[in-house]
Formats: sequence, C-alpha cells, structure tokens
Amino acid sequence: MKVDVVLGLQWGDEGKGKIVDVLAQQYPVIARFQGGPNAGHSLHFDDKKYVLHTIPSGVFRKNSINIIGNGVVIDPITFMHECLMLEDAGVPVRERIFISKKAHLILPTHRIIDAASENAKGANKIGSTLKGIGPAYMDKTGRNGLRTGDLLAPDFEDRHSALKQKHISFLKQFDYQYNPRENETEWMEAAQYMKGFKFIDGEYAVNQYLQESKRILAEGAQGSLLDVDFGSYPFVTSSNTICAGACIGLGVAPSSIGKVSGIFKAYCTRVGSGPFPTELHDGTGDLLRKMGAEFGATTGRPRRTGWLDLVALKYAVMINGVDNLIMMKADVLDTFETIKIATHYKVDGIISETVPYDTYASIEPVYKEFKGWKRDLTKVKKEEDLPFEFMSYVRFIEKEVGVPVSIISLGPDREQTIIR
Ligand code: GDP
Ligand code: IMO
Ligand code: MG
Repeated sequence: MKVDVVLGLQWGDEGKGKIVDVLAQQYPVIARFQGGPNAGHSLHFDDKKYVLHTIPSGVFRKNSINIIGNGVVIDPITFMHECLMLEDAGVPVRERIFISKKAHLILPTHRIIDAASENAKGANKIGSTLKGIGPAYMDKTGRNGLRTGDLLAPDFEDRHSALKQKHISFLKQFDYQYNPRENETEWMEAAQYMKGFKFIDGEYAVNQYLQESKRILAEGAQGSLLDVDFGSYPFVTSSNTICAGACIGLGVAPSSIGKVSGIFKAYCTRVGSGPFPTELHDGTGDLLRKMGAEFGATTGRPRRTGWLDLVALKYAVMINGVDNLIMMKADVLDTFETIKIATHYKVDGIISETVPYDTYASIEPVYKEFKGWKRDLTKVKKEEDLPFEFMSYVRFIEKEVGVPVSIISLGPDREQTIIR
C-alpha cells in the first residue's frame, strides 16, 4: 500500500478541502503534511459550510483517522477553536484526530514577529496571513522550536518562557509596539486542551498503517507556486508544499508515494503579494472574484484573479509528478462569452515556456481564446451532459499538460463532483 497525495498546483485555495472530503470516503487515514493555520480549507455539505485550518479534511467522515503530521505547525488556540466548532457539529474529535509529537508549535510571539516583520517590509511585504507561520518554521530550522511532544515535558513552562524571551530580544530590532502577554493565557489553556488528544510518533503510525494495507491520503496545504523552494520566492510560504513535502512532513519514503493528484482552478487566484502573470485588473477580474466568491477563507481578503496559466501549471505538474488532475470551479465561468488560457509567456520580449527565475521579470502572457459554454454547469451530474465547448476546454488542458483530468468539480458541495 502507498500514500496517495492531493495537493494544490497554483497559489492555494484551489479547493483541496472539498476534494479531500469527497475522497476521504475511500481512505480510512487522512494526513496533513505541512502548513498550519495559514490554510483555510472549506467543506460544504448538507447546506452547511465548515472551514478547517489545521485539522485534516477527512474529519467529518465516520471512523476516519486524521493525522496532523510532523511537518505541520500548530497554533493551539486555532486548533482548540477548530475542535470546539467540530464538537458542536457532532464530530468526536478525540477519536478521530491524532497529532504527531514532532509537529512544531506556534507561540503568540511568533505571530507578533510575523506582524513586525511584515510591517518593517512596508511596500515589499509578503502579504502573510499573520498567523506566525514564517517565524515558527524559522525556529524549527534554527533549532529553537517547541514541539507538540514538549507539552508533556515537566519543564515545558521553562522551555516556553526561554523561547519567549528569545522572541522578545529578537523583536527589539523592530520599531513595533506590542503586548508581550498578548493571548498568553488563552494559549496556555489551549495547550492544556491539546493534551487531551493522542500524541503519536506519526512516522511509525503512518508506516504501520501502510503495512496493514490501510489506504492513506496525504492532504497538502497552500499550493505549489507558494512552495519555499519552487514558488515565486520570496513571495511564498515557509514550507515545502509540493509532493516531496509529504515524505518529509509525514515520515514516509519516496518509494511509498502512490498516486499524486494535482488540484487546479479553471482560472487562477492569488492572495497576498507577488507575481501573477495572468492577473486581470479589469471588470473580467472583478467578475471572476464575484462569481467565484474569491475572498480568503482564513483572512477574508479579496483574492486577486486571472486566467488559467498553463506555463505555471505545467511547471507544478513537473515538480510534483502529477498523475491526474482535478479541475475545480469551472462553473464560475458559466456566464463568460469567451475564456482565455495563457499558453506561453513573453519574457522581456522573448517567447518562453518556462517560469523565469526572476520574480520581477516582465512577463507578458500569450493567450488562446475559447468560446464560453454559456450554460449552468452546477446541476450537471454526468460527464455525457457536459457541453461541447466545456469539454473542448478540458481536452485542451489535458493535451497541453499531458495528464488526464480525473475529477471535475462544478460547485462547492460534495455532491457537485463528477468523477470520470
Ligand atoms: P482550499 O484552501 O484549497 O481548500 O480552498 P478554499 O476552501 O480556500 O477555497 C475554495 C473555495 O471554493 C471554497 O469557498 C469552496 O467552497 C469553493 N469551491 C470549491 N470547489 C468549488 C467548485 O467547483 N465551484 C465553486 N463555485 N466553488 C467551489
Ligand atoms: P490554503 O491551504 C492561499 C499565502 C499568503 C501569503 C503567503 C505567505 O487555504 O490553500 P504565510 O502566512 O504562509 O507566511 O503567507 O502565502 N498563503 C495562502 N494563500 N491559500 C493558502 O492556504 C495560503 N497560505 C498562505 O497569502 O501570500
Ligand atoms: Mg484556502
């Protein structure tokens, strides 16, 4: 048995939450491998909407095991709020959620450092979600971090205050006002709450499940173009969002990775700063935002919108070794007369099929135009009922990328999904 992976191929918010929830019927084990409360994964069913930040999107499925892997950074406050929301919805969280002891913790001072650092960057800010992600991963790689398992150590409070003092010293370089006690009481309460969950050696657990022939689905957060190595650096997040991140963030060997499913929207969005070659600054961009309800699930910020970018999509497919594509939100384009796809870039006047190193390069997309299908797709249940113009759009993408589209999502609800 292998670990199958579902991850985003764009700048996040592709619809990972919805698809993992749908696929979780086939997988007894769902595991998040990176990111943290910067993620916002939305699930719709029974006329209700739920947003998950730290908890895997399989949690609503009966008898599911949901692992928060070592690659995730956890803010106990966010985790507790999510769990309380889930308990309200009748989910037995303590039975379904297991946390790797090696997952690092986000302290209130990590959030403060995130805000101070963004403030100091001024116009060059990353547009971080201000959840303390960058500073928490800095402490992890800088070998200063606190991990979930440390919550059980007798000297945890001392270790916590030592790290907090380091943060206070670090913050002296910034001209930034803050309250060093901000959220501290709630954080300590939430840390206690977390102790009511099963802390596991995630790498042993995942490999044991594989031996027992249990199917495991690894759920990515963010998207490939936000990967710290391969995204549009420095406008990226601080973890490896790509498929290889699943090996590191769960403790599975590369040879244990099975099918890789890459999720993309039928157009593009980005939230935060950084290059976005096909971005639309006109009425069409506004219409995409309106029809797609493109506002951040974590921060509520309006998402930047634009046409599908095949150069970036092919890059993401290459880096991840994507076996099959999952296309989301095509219904958002239902009313469009014409739809465009960028097939190439002109970089400093020269035609290019690759993503340039320099995020400040002048990229001009070269577009191919498609006739819109002008039909409501949200009620279509069978592939045979999809309009010709829509299928031409799908087939063009499959041919260009060289990977089949195995799932088409035509609305936020679980039921609005066509598996081909
Ligand atoms: P994630 O971070 O990748 O899980 O995606 P988000 O939840 O942040 O953003 C995706 C948004 O699109 C959510 O509001 C979903 O409910 C919604 N959504 C997902 N799939 C579809 C779809 O096929 N059509 C439409 N119209 N909305 C969708
Ligand atoms: P999901 O999992 C979209 C973006 C932020 C910012 C950059 C760095 O819901 O797809 P960070 O807080 O990580 O330091 O911010 O990354 N970003 C996301 N954009 N979806 C996400 O997650 C994101 N998580 C981070 O907007 O540009
Ligand atoms: Mg999201």
